Amino acid sequence: MLSPEENELLTRVGPGTPMGTLMRRYWVPALLAEELPEPDGAPVRVQLLGERLVAFRDTAGRVGLLAEACPHRGASLALGRNENHALRCIYHGWQFDVSGRCLDTPSEPADSTYRERVRAQTYPVREVAGVVWTYLGPPDKLPHFPEYRWLQLYPTQSAAFKLLEECNYAQALEGGLDLAHAPILHRYSPWSVRSADVRQQNLAPRHEVRDTPYGLQYGAIWRTEGGQQHVRILPYIMPWWTIVAPDAFGGRPASADRIVNAWVPRDDTTTWHFQYFFNPEEPIDVEWRKQTAGFHIDAEYRKTRNLDNWWLQDREDMKLRSMSGIDGIVTQDHAVNESQGPIVNRSKEHLGASDAAIVGMRRLLLRAARDVVQGIEPPGLDPAIPFDRITSATFDAPADVPWYEATPAR
Ligand code: FES
Ligand SMILES: [Fe+2]
Repeated sequence: MLSPEENELLTRVGPGTPMGTLMRRYWVPALLAEELPEPDGAPVRVQLLGERLVAFRDTAGRVGLLAEACPHRGASLALGRNENHALRCIYHGWQFDVSGRCLDTPSEPADSTYRERVRAQTYPVREVAGVVWTYLGPPDKLPHFPEYRWLQLYPTQSAAFKLLEECNYAQALEGGLDLAHAPILHRYSPWSVRSADVRQQNLAPRHEVRDTPYGLQYGAIWRTEGGQQHVRILPYIMPWWTIVAPDAFGGRPASADRIVNAWVPRDDTTTWHFQYFFNPEEPIDVEWRKQTAGFHIDAEYRKTRNLDNWWLQDREDMKLRSMSGIDGIVTQDHAVNESQGPIVNRSKEHLGASDAAIVGMRRLLLRAARDVVQGIEPPGLDPAIPFDRITSATFDAPADVPWYEATPAR
């Protein structure tokens, strides 16, 4: 349970809020590279952490990310003409390049040097493995870019997706830090039918959390026969990342496939859910992944199965084939998160033993948000952290060995 004040601290991410200040200290996945498919193409409106931005790919292929409002009188630069290495506002024709420099002010006198004193607000951009990233924090605090493993495997062994999740980031992230729900919500059988899978036989494993330099390591541990334990390990990487442990899902046997989630706040009540699908050992099957996840989205990356149509929950399917009656793992996750309301009231909740990682994540984020406004540096930014080695794991080991010693994941 959180007090109303703590819930506000956790969930508000706009400019000037403590959590917003914290999150602005990390590199942020901003949009998919596919949204800017060609030089001089249409600019794209991007909203991140409550800020309205515009992204464009200029004549030379460089990506710029600018505040959406034109510095002249605030018209949207997303309406602008993208040509000749710059974005030209359609209102009075002022023109800005990817660095924010003002190149032209045609509505001012010909001898005016005003443009030399006008700049568009810009943010640093990196285009990495199918995603355009940005950094929205103070320039002198620009962090080391985290060279995660899945970024190095693009494009044959890694792919990136995004979709809109219509609730606050924190409840979406909590769903990712909850290994108890997977064998319940995501089961491909009605509630009354259980498979032989140990995780469906025993729905209440032990849940344990350990601090790491990047965030947390979360383990769910099932005792199995012969003095063994079955373990799933999932890292939480500050401030919004998780890596799902390899699993048998979607009717396929377990493989080295992994899913990475990032829940990036769009504003306080909507979230960009970025996913990477990757396999460190072999090429991935992207179409299969999209189908299993239930990626049914419109041109704005909004789900076509959403709160407005109750995620097309099918009661007949619930009787015969599935726990939820909702198509696709990601849609199922979004349905339960979005059904909590735009911002869930955590003063009304009743946390259980299965919520250990959620408690750990909140503790970490709340402390870091309070600290950052006092000038204390946030965790998870140390360039010495081996970002490329952070991963998840599913394994069996003797029950008398601590899971965090037995794990191949760090
Ligand atoms: S508002 Fe953009 S040029 Fe005037
Ligand atoms: Fe889930």
